[in-house]
Amino acid sequence: MNVLLIGSGGREHALALAIAGSPLLTRLFVAPGNPGTASIASNVALDAADHAAVIAFCRAQNIGLVVVGPEAPLVAGLVDDLASADIAAFGPTKAAARLEGSKGFTKDLCAEFNIPTAAYARFVDRAPALAYVRARGAPIVVKADGLAAGKGVIVAATLAEAEAAIEMIFGGAFGAAGAEVVIEAFLEGEEASFFALCDGARAIEFASAQDHKRVGEGDTGPNTGGMGAYSPAPVMTPHMSARVMAEIIEPTLRGMRARGAPFAGVLFAGLMIGRNGPELIEFNARFGDPETQVMLPRLDEDLLPLLLASARGCLPAGPVKLKTEAALTVVYAAKGYPDAPMRGTEIAGVESASALPGVTVYHAGTRREGARLLANGGRVLNVTAVATNVAEAQKRAYAALDLIDWPGGFCRRDIGWRALKD
Ligand code: AMP
Ligand code: GLY
Repeated sequence: MNVLLIGSGGREHALALAIAGSPLLTRLFVAPGNPGTASIASNVALDAADHAAVIAFCRAQNIGLVVVGPEAPLVAGLVDDLASADIAAFGPTKAAARLEGSKGFTKDLCAEFNIPTAAYARFVDRAPALAYVRARGAPIVVKADGLAAGKGVIVAATLAEAEAAIEMIFGGAFGAAGAEVVIEAFLEGEEASFFALCDGARAIEFASAQDHKRVGEGDTGPNTGGMGAYSPAPVMTPHMSARVMAEIIEPTLRGMRARGAPFAGVLFAGLMIGRNGPELIEFNARFGDPETQVMLPRLDEDLLPLLLASARGCLPAGPVKLKTEAALTVVYAAKGYPDAPMRGTEIAGVESASALPGVTVYHAGTRREGARLLANGGRVLNVTAVATNVAEAQKRAYAALDLIDWPGGFCRRDIGWRALKD
């Protein structure tokens, strides 16, 4: 079978590597891909926003499955248009991707189907929003309703911060994504990411991970797309995972069917594990980045049949088979990230790092210029290691990272601290 994978990040390099290993695969194309995917697949200059061009490519290349990595094409309805053209795709329809595309939609679903999450209210005007936070007090969380590239959430420690966040969002900082504001109670506990494969009717457990969203060591500084991750998340015991499936994932699938928008693809639950158990912070309708880079190296079965079964509505019984080993990835980012990453600096030594046992270096924001590898984005490389436990994986990942010669880059040195603290 020929497969087309959409995206260009570290997540897509990891997906490409897993799909490339499948005995079912004939040819793998990645659009647009990156220098990492170029070494294992054919990169193609296709614009995912041009659905007609994607369909034409699929017909010309006899594509049996399209795998959509990022959220934007899902929310834009790429999977719907592919389905209309009779092309199978892994990922939710536009209506189902609202679980990621609209926080208000998801909160209302949680309320109706008894899914545990923070108490909330929705606003389309600033005055009632300001009155609400003044009545509730801080800490409180202010969110733009729509997709805001991970920047639309303000965890306000003071009332003044909450008021400023409301003014900023209604002032147009996130454009149409901020036409509505969701304000919710501040949840306490330990965060974890949980992934379930879904086929519209059923969900099976995939894996768990923990991300590091803040740019600075000790979880300080501005939020980023994620500075590193490990899998599994120790807080996601088998008991806790079973609770998440029963209390959050399964009611969500029932609710989406009741809404006439069955969810297929991967449902990524951002969770807060508190004293009373798991609560939903948010859903994403896709694989996480960098979580995928630590989950796929642990997968102990062929990924491609699972993606196909999700697209065809016939997932096998779960959970998916995972190795007992742990994986940890360190994001090597360009100096200046997340505000103004420096582009074009040269990177050397990736081959020596990749040669260490258990180590894979996933490309994200890189580009080749002749024989040289250059930084071409914020998050540039994901230095990933698999080992018997998180502590060993951490040692291996940093040993590999230290073989990379990149004066233009920086990383957090404490990835994994939460898993290692006890
Ligand atoms: P999100 O983009 O919704 O994942 O939010 C970004 C980050 O904000 C999350 O990873 C949490 O650390 C934090 N956050 C979001 N909502 C809440 C909440 N209700 N209580 C506490 N922290 C939150
Ligand atoms: N690492 C968080 C995300 O993919 O949204």
